[in-house]
Amino acid sequence: MLRVAIDGPGGTGKSTIAKAIGAKFGLEYIDTGAMYRSMALKAVRTGVSPSDETAVAAMLEETSIDFRDGRMYLDGEDVGGLIRTNEISMAASDISKLPCVRAKADELSKHLAATRNVVMEGRDITTVVIPDAEVKIFMTASPEIRAQRRYDQLIEAGKSADYDQIFEEIQKRDYQDSHRALNPLRQAEDAELLDTSYLTREEVVDAISTIITAKTGVIAAR
Ligand code: DC
Repeated sequence: MLRVAIDGPGGTGKSTIAKAIGAKFGLEYIDTGAMYRSMALKAVRTGVSPSDETAVAAMLEETSIDFRDGRMYLDGEDVGGLIRTNEISMAASDISKLPCVRAKADELSKHLAATRNVVMEGRDITTVVIPDAEVKIFMTASPEIRAQRRYDQLIEAGKSADYDQIFEEIQKRDYQDSHRALNPLRQAEDAELLDTSYLTREEVVDAISTIITAKTGVIAAR
């Protein structure tokens, strides 16, 4: 069994890094944030407030989520292209406070981690979903640097961007994700802290690969 669990605040590059680690070590990549984002998308689409627990619970009775081959399915629809907006980021952070929402994402995440070798990333993977993972990493980067990276991505994609607004949203989501009552973002005692503020993507992948090999003896397949 090789399960690599990665937690950290939004915008640290967890997804990009986890995908690269998955490809290098032959692990299935699981993005648990996408599960929260897809439930938030359904709430927004159907006019359900992400903070109305009764309405969200009723909505979830008729909702199926699945994560297969790196793709997020909501009621059978591949929603990967629809869940990365600012609106859905905030709605996902809001809806993720609800116990019924966390239970649904936990059930799917735990099932996936029990049946295959994975690299799974989110906010509570090292603490709640796979506390006994073979490798546990906590990735951080300063909010200023995360905001700058996001700003650069948007500008590069030809979109408009406002640095101050992005910075404010990052801080708000950091606060919400780490101060909620249920399974907040926190560093597990036995997770390796990796501050990526001044590291390139390749340096982060190398650092995590070194940790994996040191902890498990497993060497990258490519
Ligand atoms: O990783 P992300 O930015 O795609 O996550 C979106 C939101 O989902 C995040 O702000 C909080 C929530 N989330 C969570 O509560 N637990 C996880 N394991 C993953 C995400």
